[in-house]
Amino acid sequence: MEFYIDTADLAQIKEAMSWGILEGVTTNPSIVAREKRGFEELIREIARETPGKVWCEVIGTDADTMVEEARMFRNWADRVVVKLPMGAEGVKAASRLSKEGIETNMTLVYSVGQAVLAAKAGVRYVSPYLGRVDDVAWSGATLIGGIVETFARLGLPTKVIAASVRGPQQVLDMLNLGVHAVTTSYSVWAAMMKHPMTDIGLEGFLRDWKEAGL
Ligand code: E4P
Repeated sequence: MEFYIDTADLAQIKEAMSWGILEGVTTNPSIVAREKRGFEELIREIARETPGKVWCEVIGTDADTMVEEARMFRNWADRVVVKLPMGAEGVKAASRLSKEGIETNMTLVYSVGQAVLAAKAGVRYVSPYLGRVDDVAWSGATLIGGIVETFARLGLPTKVIAASVRGPQQVLDMLNLGVHAVTTSYSVWAAMMKHPMTDIGLEGFLRDWKEAGL
């Protein structure tokens, strides 16, 4: 069970990593763009704050450029997972990078067929997008459950990371489907830690303690 925070916001990363329960940080080009800072400088800084993996996505659209970018990311952060977009060029790049021993993730996976091809190319992880499938009135859970079952049936070592996860209940739904990893925002992890009864209970304990004057 691997948990990641899906952000490039350093304040959120620092706080979330201090919880000691996350395996690292996932990013994508939209998430990085939001920070309005140099890509390399930002990734190096995230890597300094993160004892675990730092996931970084290529911008290139052909396999040669993707492979070059992957090698460059590896220099920025040695614990990098290189995210490649699903498609022929991404598959080509994944086949080459897996032979070089660079850990990869196939992102933007929307079918079991895509996931199987990515696994065959040697990626370590595939990212199906739960929320974005639900947004277009289909079932992200059905897709992700199908990938998990197919990988298990075929004995594939590729891990499934649920992406585009937008609430604490969805995290649990994904874990119950058997995904190996989940990435989601700071606010979802923080919400998962909270319960109003916990707050009420703690307030009561502290009040009783104070009133007893011990
Ligand atoms: C994973 O890294 C994905 O890029 C991310 O989870 C997408 O989430 P969103 O659909 O909420 O943008």
